[in-house]
Amino acid sequence: MFFSKAHVVAVLLSASSSYAQDIGGTFTVNCSPLTIQRRDPVISFGKDTSDHVHAVIGGTAFRGNTTNEDALNSKATTCDKILDHSIYWVPTLYHINNDGRYELVKHKGGAVYYQNRACNYQAGRTRCPSIKENFPTVFPAGLRMISGDKDLRTFNKNDIAQRAINHHCLGSIDQETNSLPLVHCDTIRSQVTFPPCWDGVNVDSADHKSHMAFPAIGDFNGGVCPESHPVALIQLFYEFHFDTKKYTDRNFVFAQGDKTGYGFHGDFINGWTDLKRLGDAHRTCTGAKGVDAPTCSLNIGTDGYAGHASNQTPEHAAPAEDVGLNGPLSALPNNKVPTGETPQAKLRSRVFPRGY
Ligand SMILES: *[C@@H]1O[C@H](CO)[C@@H](O)[C@H](O)[C@H]1NC(C)=O
Repeated sequence: MFFSKAHVVAVLLSASSSYAQDIGGTFTVNCSPLTIQRRDPVISFGKDTSDHVHAVIGGTAFRGNTTNEDALNSKATTCDKILDHSIYWVPTLYHINNDGRYELVKHKGGAVYYQNRACNYQAGRTRCPSIKENFPTVFPAGLRMISGDKDLRTFNKNDIAQRAINHHCLGSIDQETNSLPLVHCDTIRSQVTFPPCWDGVNVDSADHKSHMAFPAIGDFNGGVCPESHPVALIQLFYEFHFDTKKYTDRNFVFAQGDKTGYGFHGDFINGWTDLKRLGDAHRTCTGAKGVDAPTCSLNIGTDGYAGHASNQTPEHAAPAEDVGLNGPLSALPNNKVPTGETPQAKLRSRVFPRGY
């Protein structure tokens, strides 16, 4: 499902920005699930558990204190680009059953898009050069960052960082919303776009955000970087797939207790084992998998495409707690209390005034 050309084209066409680029500006890393557990080596570095449960893909060195060096020394990855030992994670999704219990929704893995979308700050620059003349700077070693805010339960369309979080419904109705979907979906594909503009100095910051920024001109998915964060890096876009086919209502909640979907977010630890080849990728690789061109710098040996490494397992044991892998739970892990309204409840209260 992650690999078809049609799928990639659909994603690019659905990008609302005028900065949407042709396929040569993107390559994808396609990943099977690695683990579902309550750890977060960015927000809760060094702690054995984190605030809420995450769905994790990528490098197998994931644990509570994974450094970037640990990530790149991962023994394996669940992703299909063998140079990539980066680790990617998001809050996982639960369904609230009729009896009030929380059922872990099956996480099906994800795709990460590496996009040529932003350009460096230059005084007077009002739009980016074409992708043939614009190449983002490769990620600095040690880069870690987050996009999104776990505590959001409302949506402000004027906030570029909030627009960068959305959910794509795949099924008989195909629609993209900033909230969780309003209709039945076979799959909910929850999506995070990361800020592509770097301050040029810091690989992390206290809030894991302020060393990065969204474009000053353009939109969340591409444009000209601000003077404060002048260096355009590769822009990351996550798609995490949740199997929601069997659920007839919209009573979902993300692990941090978010019933709205506005508090969805993503974390990233750069673990690319060869930054030179990564940096050359948008220049040398074309095609939906980003490895099709003979000159592609991601091709090592005969092929940099490792196939879907679905049999990889974490090198370190998860915390002992049950996160729902053995059946529905009476409370969300860490007793997170659901807040905010499901989009469906909100719709109902709009359609039927009080008293009906
Ligand atoms: C991470 O924790 C493990 C186990 O406690 C320890 O052996 C290792 O040195 C730690 N690594 C870092 C970078 O703190």
